[in-house]
Amino acid sequence: MVSFTCSQVGATAAGGASPFLGYRWRSGPGGATPSSSLFVGRRLAAVQMRAPSRGARGGSALRVTCEKVVGIDLGTTNSAVAAMEGGKPTVVTNAEGARTTPSVVAYTKTGERLVGQIAKRQAVVNPENTFFSVKRFIGRKMAEVDDEAKQVSYGVVKDENGNVKLDCPAIGKQFAAEEISAQVLRKLVDDASKFLNEKITKAVVTVPAYFNDSQRTATKDAGRIAGLEVLRIINEPTAASLAYGFEKKNNETILVFDLGGGTFDVSVLEVGDGVFEVLSTSGDTHLGGDDFDKRIVDWLASNFKKDERIDLLKDKQALQRLTEAAEKAKMELSTLTQANISLPFITATADGPKHIEATLSRAKFEELCSDLIDRLKTPVNNALRDAKLSLSDLDEVILVGGSTRIPAVQELVRKLTDKDPNVTVNPDEVVSLGAAVQVIFFILKCGLFLQRIIVKLLLY
Ligand SMILES: Nc1ncnc2c1ncn2[C@@H]1O[C@H](COP(=O)(O)OP(=O)(O)OP(=O)(O)O)[C@@H](O)[C@H]1O
Ligand SMILES: [Mg+2]
Repeated sequence: MVSFTCSQVGATAAGGASPFLGYRWRSGPGGATPSSSLFVGRRLAAVQMRAPSRGARGGSALRVTCEKVVGIDLGTTNSAVAAMEGGKPTVVTNAEGARTTPSVVAYTKTGERLVGQIAKRQAVVNPENTFFSVKRFIGRKMAEVDDEAKQVSYGVVKDENGNVKLDCPAIGKQFAAEEISAQVLRKLVDDASKFLNEKITKAVVTVPAYFNDSQRTATKDAGRIAGLEVLRIINEPTAASLAYGFEKKNNETILVFDLGGGTFDVSVLEVGDGVFEVLSTSGDTHLGGDDFDKRIVDWLASNFKKDERIDLLKDKQALQRLTEAAEKAKMELSTLTQANISLPFITATADGPKHIEATLSRAKFEELCSDLIDRLKTPVNNALRDAKLSLSDLDEVILVGGSTRIPAVQELVRKLTDKDPNVTVNPDEVVSLGAAVQVIFFILKCGLFLQRIIVKLLLY
């Protein structure tokens, strides 16, 4: 007769000094199998268990495998991967040595597929076959994304069911958004497998809090298409709070202000000491850094139209170049008070080539985007109201997302919350780090599940 012993050698939820959970199974005197151990914690892993076979009483009854699970921030603009290493969430470097990967997929004229930085770099010469900001289309119907469809350089069409399809003339194919996102996930996971020196097949993936069921299902589908098992979909602000509160001993009330490339999320949470409770969420699924870029693009294009009577917005290649230049200028304006925009040979007429040489001041940029900045106010106020809190109840304000580097955004947060935002977490990495922390909770739950199964085995 086989008996199993299970010893839990230590368990601390995130928030404890070192999240550590271990189980040891040992086959009893009659068991043919040598004892097998599983430790989860220093080496966090997913746990798979097979129920005992008919021959369980006489021999090997339990198969335990363990493998690393990663946390993935599948962003509109950039994605990041993190894993638990030595009990701490750690960002995984991609094949190019970068800590974030552009969420961009492209097909070249010869049908070659490019993903990440390499795809982003060639966007200007291959705008119709370069897919970026795809997260804006995932799980959406064509009728919901008219505005977004106009802002991208590739064709967005609908299929017979009204679903969004992304047209790729280079290979004569139309992709669902989740198929393109799957390519991003595949690269992230392949790179992570190399970095961690371990095959990765499971992940926790983050989505904006405002994603509806259809968007969440489509994100999960993207994982499946990529050959990944998505153990859990979690909200980005929750992930951010998990990373922030990971080593906190005391409870704090925090506001997570996440302004990324395509979405804006605000959440108020109670964090610390292993407790992470979302008190309220609010946001705007149609507001992000892309919109700030668009304001600069429109400003450049309208000035050009005034001077040259040519609409650059109708020229896909020119639009792509304008968008890249606009983003670069916007990022420069986070540290400088003015940015130069130089776009030689932006188009040509019978008179010869035309160029753009412009200077954008931070003040002008803020003027162009003033209504976008204004739109950040309501979700913050709503989140506080829904949490039934006043400003004085907030301990910290955490900035998440690359667009929170915009000085006017930081200024607004300061004004709205009457607090200096916390800058101890990297706004580009905190979501993926939190997704990796979430794995601990999954494992802990898994642990309880295992305990139950083992009790059943003992009774068997
Ligand atoms: N220094 C900077 N100043 C201003 N904006 C910046 C800066 N760095 C990055 N950004 C902007 O941040 C945005 C990308 O942020 P991030 O990578 O956090 O978004 P994401 O996670 O991909 O998007 P989302 O969370 O909406 O899905 C881009 O619009 C980028 O231009
Ligand atoms: Mg993000």
